[in-house]
Amino acid sequence: MAAKIITVFNQKGGCGKTNISVQVGGSLGRRGKRVKIIDADPQNTATRWLAQAKDAAPFPARISNLSGLGPALHREIRADLENFDYIVVDCPPSVDSPIAGSALLVSDLAVIPVVPSPADIWAAVAAKKLAAHAQGTNPSLKVVAVFNMVQRTAMAKGALDVMSEDENVPVLKSQLGLRSAYRECQVMGATVHSVPRAGAAVAEVEGLVDEILKVMK
Ligand SMILES: Nc1ncnc2c1ncn2[C@@H]1O[C@H](COP(=O)(O)OP(=O)(O)OP(=O)(O)O)[C@@H](O)[C@H]1O
Ligand SMILES: [Mg+2]
Repeated sequence: MAAKIITVFNQKGGCGKTNISVQVGGSLGRRGKRVKIIDADPQNTATRWLAQAKDAAPFPARISNLSGLGPALHREIRADLENFDYIVVDCPPSVDSPIAGSALLVSDLAVIPVVPSPADIWAAVAAKKLAAHAQGTNPSLKVVAVFNMVQRTAMAKGALDVMSEDENVPVLKSQLGLRSAYRECQVMGATVHSVPRAGAAVAEVEGLVDEILKVMK
């Protein structure tokens, strides 16, 4: 079966694109799926993260940095469809970059990470516009938002109320909390599953993967 393609994007920097790409890609790999993470960001964050893995504990997904392909990225993604079960594309934050738009042309699911703060919610409007534009060419593209770095505050509740008004882009029930485990696992070249006593983070990542799979069905 051809790979399902999940593109994680948002022009807003630092909202958790790479964290979600690596956690979701790695978790699917841990489930025995053949996964490729495409690092489409010239910052190389995902590539550097996975490079930290020791030979004795390899990361459970492949990685390629294809940021140099720019608007031709979708062709290279398509070329690998038969070799993987899932391809996860980690996009750069730049508004000017053609990369996210290219990846969305061939994607099954667009994931927009959003930190529950006003600035991030404002920025999400531009990301949603880009996804809606891609849906013009790729009508089967589904688009969801995921809250990341959530602290149980009134701000998160308010953000959820605002974001939930948009019926075209549902906010997933699964949220990732603000947890040090997400930073610790970068040093290990791993997902949160490898961090001691990170059960809460593991549970929310696994819940997110389950929900993403359900949405893509
Ligand atoms: N849920 C979280 N809890 C704690 N720290 C987090 C969480 N998600 C991301 N981070 C940290 O916040 C920083 C930014 O996250 P990340 O690199 O995933 O964002 P990004 O959207 O990919 O950034 P960029 O736009 O630069 O590519 C990183 O240091 C990351 O480890
Ligand atoms: Mg990133």
